[in-house]
Amino acid sequence: MTTTLLKETEITRGARIIARGGIVAFPTETVYGLGADATNAAAVEKIFDVKGRPAQNPLIVHFHSLEDLFARIPDIDDGTKKVLTKIQDALTVIIPRPNWIPAIVSAGLNTVAVRVPSCEFARAFIKACGVPLAAPSANTSGRPSPTRWQHVYVDLKDKIDAVFECDPTRIGVESTVVQVTGDTGQVTGKIKVLRLGGVSTAELAKIMPVEIVCGAKASPGTRFKHYAPTCKMVVAQYSPDMTMRIQDFIKNNKATVIFWQGNASDYAPNVVFLGRTVEEITHNLYASIRAAEWGSDVIVCEGFPDTSEYETLNERIVKAAGGVII
Ligand code: TXA
Ligand code: MG
Repeated sequence: MTTTLLKETEITRGARIIARGGIVAFPTETVYGLGADATNAAAVEKIFDVKGRPAQNPLIVHFHSLEDLFARIPDIDDGTKKVLTKIQDALTVIIPRPNWIPAIVSAGLNTVAVRVPSCEFARAFIKACGVPLAAPSANTSGRPSPTRWQHVYVDLKDKIDAVFECDPTRIGVESTVVQVTGDTGQVTGKIKVLRLGGVSTAELAKIMPVEIVCGAKASPGTRFKHYAPTCKMVVAQYSPDMTMRIQDFIKNNKATVIFWQGNASDYAPNVVFLGRTVEEITHNLYASIRAAEWGSDVIVCEGFPDTSEYETLNERIVKAAGGVII
């Protein structure tokens, strides 16, 4: 199969590929997704094949608007609706799976993950398809999620029907996956966070009490290898002597340093700069890991402070490093 590169203006062409059971990569505000008609089990099966994704890892179903989601799944509880209405970006909620969504989408679970992207392009594309789209991140399973169409192309060229050549994604990490529980009628429930992501737990806590329950049992996907570069990677624990420890490490290793706090001259010549603010760092993280893996034996990533604003970043880099901390 030859992968077609679609221009931003070719939404109708992309929608026709989805209608005949094909797979099309498209941007969202978080990362690029690999979309198929969520009501077509055979098309969804292809997603698992091309990504090399374990069959036990359920997908997220994407809707073009809250109105469309609530019309297609009328029995969503009030607590979940409240959270969906308050948070526009980077949010996925777990709800009971309606019968019209095939079991394969949810890896056989009786729940399903649903999300309404805030990205205008994603919304327009899903709307043109006329059906919700099942879409995981558009990377080969285990690799960093794609934040640029070129990342999709490198991973999945000639395995998928098409990819939209749109801009880099705005946020840069995946959505936060939550399940709202409790006294939903009264909307006094609790938000269980199953996967950290683009929406911070501090933001969610403004709506309802939050409990972080990330782990394989609550969120099957978190069990598998994730975000990994092709070379080794280690994380330098954040501390006052972090720069010195990294300098020691790179004396003895052919390393590239991904940094946000120090300066390029501290680690020259093999460096990748993430940015200074949490937003910049998040936006650049996966592209930086993909850039740094070229030509080095090991990537060293500066760690982040152990505070809530850096919680998603810390979780992602430690996973990418397979838990190796120096
Ligand atoms: O930002 C995102 O979420 C991107 C864009 C494309 O929307 N998608 C994404 O999908 O990251 P994926 O497949 O890479 O991750 C989906 C996550 C996995 O951790 C999976 O375990 C969890 O959602 N998930 C899906 N369905 C679930 C369910 N029924 N119960 C619990 N967790 C579920
Ligand atoms: Mg993924």
